Amino acid sequence: MKILVTGGAGFIGSNFVHYWIKNHSGDEIVVLDKLTYAGNLENLSAVADKIKFIKGDICDESAVSEAMQGVETVAHFAAESHVDRSILDPEAFIKTNVLGTHMLLKKALEQKVKRFHHVSTDEVFGQIDLNSSERWKESSPYNPRSPYSASKAASDHLVRAYYQTYGLPVTISNCANNIGPYMFPEKLVPLAITNVLQGKKIPVYKPGNQVREWLYVEDHCSGIEAVLTKGRVGETYFIGPDNPEYSNLEVIKKLLKIMGKSDDFIEFVGDRPGHDQKYALDHGKISKELGWQPKYQLDEALENCVKWYTENRAWWEKVKSGEYLKYYEQQYAKR
Ligand code: NAD
Ligand code: DAU
Repeated sequence: MKILVTGGAGFIGSNFVHYWIKNHSGDEIVVLDKLTYAGNLENLSAVADKIKFIKGDICDESAVSEAMQGVETVAHFAAESHVDRSILDPEAFIKTNVLGTHMLLKKALEQKVKRFHHVSTDEVFGQIDLNSSERWKESSPYNPRSPYSASKAASDHLVRAYYQTYGLPVTISNCANNIGPYMFPEKLVPLAITNVLQGKKIPVYKPGNQVREWLYVEDHCSGIEAVLTKGRVGETYFIGPDNPEYSNLEVIKKLLKIMGKSDDFIEFVGDRPGHDQKYALDHGKISKELGWQPKYQLDEALENCVKWYTENRAWWEKVKSGEYLKYYEQQYAKR
């Protein structure tokens, strides 16, 4: 089978490419990636001879046509993915996440691909009250609250529209917060680990009681594999962990304990505008229908992350320079 992985040089996309090569060695893999600030060819260097890499924008018709040639399955990861950047500058999110996804759908239909899998997020459902024990289901109403989640919601709607209107064989997965190797150090967990390794404080948005569900990235990859190989066309599946509920502050304290550091590394800073308080997914459907279960508990996932960032200092030191420093200054200086 020939599979096109968009955004395959980013965090989850590159982990997926590694996972797919390991578990589907006979398949041909094409990666289409614009190599934005978040894309990094080093994430794919270990498998460079096993894939075809095309540097290109998913909004660019000719790049997408070239990448889609002879493709049977599309796994669509490419996106602008960081909420704080979407608050600073939403435009790129609308272009890539909405118009780029539409270009892929249009070309996938022309090429008669057998499966278009869209990788989405729990954030499209909005937020849950901190005191509530509600968990979202695939049928829950959409209520995105940031430019990022609004752009992802729009892309989910377009994917469903292409299924309903034109019969494009699509599937969608909405996933919780991922952590793992090659994660860009603008997101909370890799930011915290690398800051501590640099002797810097961890900026925690006040009051730190917000709740996320944390999934080890390998579990996300196996969840997408289950949907691609066994999922029903036209369906949406949630992918999330089985951990108890932890606040951001509790997660940071766990990390500091693993790293043998005191809580003095925590620095409370001004909150994110419109900060979603809590996300919680009920992943019963993928478990019951497709037999998928997450393998990793949070402690093991965090330990793996600390080990990876400790052993791969050269990777993130290069990333945390140039444009990153300007972004960090803009994001945190006045908080
Ligand atoms: P990332 O920011 O690490 O990587 C995104 C990749 O897409 C990069 O390689 C980038 O170069 C590429 N890209 C961006 N714009 C592009 C364009 N116009 N054309 C081609 N390539 C482009 O993102 P990630 O964290 O790996 O997320 C991947 C997908 O998973 C996204 O769709 C995101 O919404 C979704 N998701 C992420 C998480 C998470 O916790 N990170 C959780 C749930 C869902
Ligand atoms: O839930 C899935 C989503 O998870 C994905 O769709 C997004 O692509 C991904 O970026 C992530 O979004 P979050 O906003 O939840 O992740 P982030 O790591 O940015 O923040 C996690 C929590 O930590 C959130 O409550 C905000 C808080 N935070 C974040 C940063 C960057 C801080 O307290 N301090 C920080 O410096």
